[in-house]
Amino acid sequence: MSMDAIKMLQGKKILLGVSGSIAAYKAATLIRLLVKEGAEVKVVMTTAAAGFITPLTLATLSKNEVPLNISDHNSWNNHVMLGRWADVMLIAPASANTLAKMALGLCDNLLLAVYLSATCPVLFAPAMDEDMWHHPATRSNVDKLISFGHQQIPVESGELASGLFGEGRMAEPEQILTFLQQHFQQKNGRKALNGTTAIVTAGPTIEHIDPVRYISNHSSGKMGIAIAEALADAGANVQLVLGPTSQKTTHPGITVTHVQTAQEMFDAVTTRYPAAGIVVAAAAVADYRPANVADKKIKKGEAQLHIDLEKTPDILRSLGDNKGPQQLLVGFSLETNNEKEYALKKLRDKNLDLIVMNSLADTGAGFNYDTNKVTLFDKNGNERSFPLKSKQAVAQDIVSAIIELQHA
Ligand code: C5P
Repeated sequence: MSMDAIKMLQGKKILLGVSGSIAAYKAATLIRLLVKEGAEVKVVMTTAAAGFITPLTLATLSKNEVPLNISDHNSWNNHVMLGRWADVMLIAPASANTLAKMALGLCDNLLLAVYLSATCPVLFAPAMDEDMWHHPATRSNVDKLISFGHQQIPVESGELASGLFGEGRMAEPEQILTFLQQHFQQKNGRKALNGTTAIVTAGPTIEHIDPVRYISNHSSGKMGIAIAEALADAGANVQLVLGPTSQKTTHPGITVTHVQTAQEMFDAVTTRYPAAGIVVAAAAVADYRPANVADKKIKKGEAQLHIDLEKTPDILRSLGDNKGPQQLLVGFSLETNNEKEYALKKLRDKNLDLIVMNSLADTGAGFNYDTNKVTLFDKNGNERSFPLKSKQAVAQDIVSAIIELQHA
């Protein structure tokens, strides 16, 4: 975490709303982290939340009384004042029930009364079982809350209270902390990557055999696009060099250049490189291409057809060879065996600052999935493993690591 990010929460007034979900136990860690960062924390919780974690625990950690009911501690009179006191209201965990009531403007407990009268920005971290998370009612409630201008902290995938695995876990307290820091950084107009140009490569490349055939791979471009969006959210001016994919982005901070072949990607990246502070190479670039491209469709003939292949330019290696002192390079490593060894070798050989390792051996990770499970290795020898998460949440982790390296 950067020094700037650390200072962001000093003296900030955080109103934490805790609703009834097993993830309520994480509220204790979250409060502890916030207090350590110098924030003032006041907690309101629902009676359902008090079934998961005691008000006494949260009151002790936050150093403030925790009202539960509208009749507690003059709460009825105070609910408006609490909403006005806060710089931000964070609802974590936000259960399906609380989200639904917030979307409707219901006001049948203290947390909701405080929410409805809060004039400050609102962030919410949903937590529920996967089926509840995917239910159209929850989807439209979340959309509605976002349309109110509230910010949703992405859910994570993993083991759920039901014992099933899937999407719907509340983000980890450290992740929520990063979101709050970014929220205040943005509010100050001091986004961490303001004024930085970042190049992101994403998607596959296609290498033509003849006018109708090509060699390619299964990359969807989802991970790279998520990184481009996270970098742009952090204030970077992003140049996305995108291979052929149906995935799109409409983020205003991103300029997209469409390319097809490794050579076209190489050319597009190389011309933009001198102006870039950060390059993230998330594209699955073909390693070989046909040495000769037939100008007419190759006709069916002999029992066997041999196509000579030649190496494509290694874009990232060339960037590493020409890296300036202020430039930061991030690569990806996708292997099926000896993953760590190969990842570290690439980090060294290509002169990278950070490498993102993902393994095809992990279920839910890699091509075309909406989730990914990564380990980050940086040039200083740090290794960090993350659980299976949405590609958006993984992108956040990667961007946080980039910001951290920039400040190191
Ligand atoms: O060496 P390998 O292809 O496994 O390295 C993967 C990393 O290098 C990825 O970040 C990928 O985007 C980048 N790469 C590249 N140009 C190539 C091959 C890989 O930029 N021709």
